[in-house]
Formats: sequence, structure tokens, C-alpha cells
Amino acid sequence: MSLTINIYYTGENGNAKKFAEEMINSGIVDRIRNEEGNIRYNYFYSKEDAETVLLIDSWKDKTALDIHHKSAMMGEIANLREKYHLKMRVEQFTDLSHDYDEIIKRRTATRKFTDKKVEEDKLQKILEAGRLAPTAKNMQPQKIFVATTKESLEKLDTITPCRYNAPIVLIVCSNKNIAWTKDNYSTFEMDACIVATHMMLEATNQDLDNIWIEMFDKNKLKKEFNIPENIEPICLIPLGYKDQTFKGNPLHNNRKELKETVEFI
Ligand SMILES: Cc1cc2nc3c(=O)[nH]c(=O)nc-3n(C[C@H](O)[C@H](O)[C@H](O)COP(=O)(O)O)c2cc1C
Repeated sequence: MSLTINIYYTGENGNAKKFAEEMINSGIVDRIRNEEGNIRYNYFYSKEDAETVLLIDSWKDKTALDIHHKSAMMGEIANLREKYHLKMRVEQFTDLSHDYDEIIKRRTATRKFTDKKVEEDKLQKILEAGRLAPTAKNMQPQKIFVATTKESLEKLDTITPCRYNAPIVLIVCSNKNIAWTKDNYSTFEMDACIVATHMMLEATNQDLDNIWIEMFDKNKLKKEFNIPENIEPICLIPLGYKDQTFKGNPLHNNRKELKETVEFI
């Protein structure tokens, strides 16, 4: 996710403005703009305060910012700041809308959650992401049961060994009577899988850890939650905040090379 840093440089006798001009004229600013992961690096002058300039710099992610902080230019900037006797005040902001590539890389199966409650607005965004998912002929056969109560979660523990203590479980189902059907083939499962994937990725976008669960007793689930015959459970998605003792899924980085799964024809 991208980061934006605001730095207010304040001095006397117009020194802050002179500093910014020297940063630009010496080529340091251009060099920084050419650094990997730099999105912007701009100085702003204030009409109200002649002794302050504002630098706004944005970086693709924390790694890019860390590399910048270790670059030789930081020493040059510090020297110039001293030369002009400037004080500085720093504010750091994180982009609320995460970068899609970053979300795809960050999502991983989480198998140990804390009890921390999931915020209502985050849950709503996840459900909305499912609502906006594509389905065959736009039939929207999905039915999502949101298990949040102690009673429901305990019931789920008798249905699957894979809740992993998550405080919320999305039970993603599909209505076979609604899904598009052609030549005896129904897309009910396919549609629900797309909905589930949308929700998983939005959960990651909301900094909520999650996992896709196939290992559960479908018949028992239907019985325990009185799910009608035509509503087919497809998967469970436990959601929450990962326990810091969770070491990560060992299979996560074990992906085949593209050439093994992709062929240009
Ligand atoms: C269709 C499907 C079914 C899965 N079922 C289970 C399950 O029942 N229990 C479990 O612990 N993990 C389950 N997983 C998680 C996978 O093991 C995990 O996604 C896979 O190892 C890749 O790792 P990653 O998600 O961390 O990239 C399932 C994943 C998918 C996509």
C-alpha cells in the first residue's frame, strides 16, 4: 500500500524556500523522482507563512520508502537542511485504497485467529464485494450466512475442524433453483466461488485475514442451520485478525512456474 509523507520545513529569512530551490536546482529532486517506487516528490510554498515550505512525497510501498531512506541522498538532504538551519515536522499517511497487486500477493490462508472483533463497516464492505461479483446471466444465486454468535460458531466447530477460532465465518451457499442452467449444467457452484473470491480479496483489502474452507460436513451444516434443500453450501470463509503466533501457510509461496500452467496458443 502506498505511503505519503508530508514534511514541513521551517526556517528564518526565507531559508526554507532557498532550501527547496537548492534541492530542485542541484538535481536531488530529479534523482529522487527517478528512484524505484517514488510516486511524487513536490515542494509547496505557503501564501500565509513565508518561512515554511511543505514537501509531499509518496512511495509505492514501505519497501520503496525504506530503500530511499538508506540512499546516499539522505545525507545530502540532511546537510542542506543544516546549512539552512531548518526545523522539520513530519506526518506519514497510508493510502486507504490498497494497491490491487499488493492485495493479491498479501492474501494467504490463515489458520489461527485472535478473538478480536471484526468491525461492522469492514464486514459490510466484504459483503458488498460479494454482491458486486459477476454471476452467469447475472442470476445472483448466492446466499451468504454470516455466523457471528457464540452459538453459531460453536455449532460450526462440530461441522468443521477448520474455523481456527475466527470470530466470523461466512457460509457461502448457492441457490440451485436460481442459478443459470443449460443442457443440464448449472453454474451454481461456479457463481458462488466467484462471489467467495471477491469477498476474500476485499477482506484482505480491509486488512482482515481469511481462509477458504472446503473441509466441512455439508449435510450436518444444512441440518444444524436449517438450510433448505435447494441451497447448496459451497465453502466457508473464516474471517478475523491473525494470531501473531501463526507462522504462515508453508504452501503459500509454493507456486508453479507460469509455463507449467499457461500456454499461449
Ligand atoms: C477450494 C479450496 C479449499 C480449501 N480447503 C481448505 C480446508 O478445508 N482447510 C484448510 O485449512 N485450508 C483449505 N484451503 C486453503 C489452501 O490450503 C491454501 O489456500 C493453499 O495452500 C494456498 O495457500 P495460500 O492461500 O496461503 O496462498 C482451501 C483452499 C481452496 C482454494
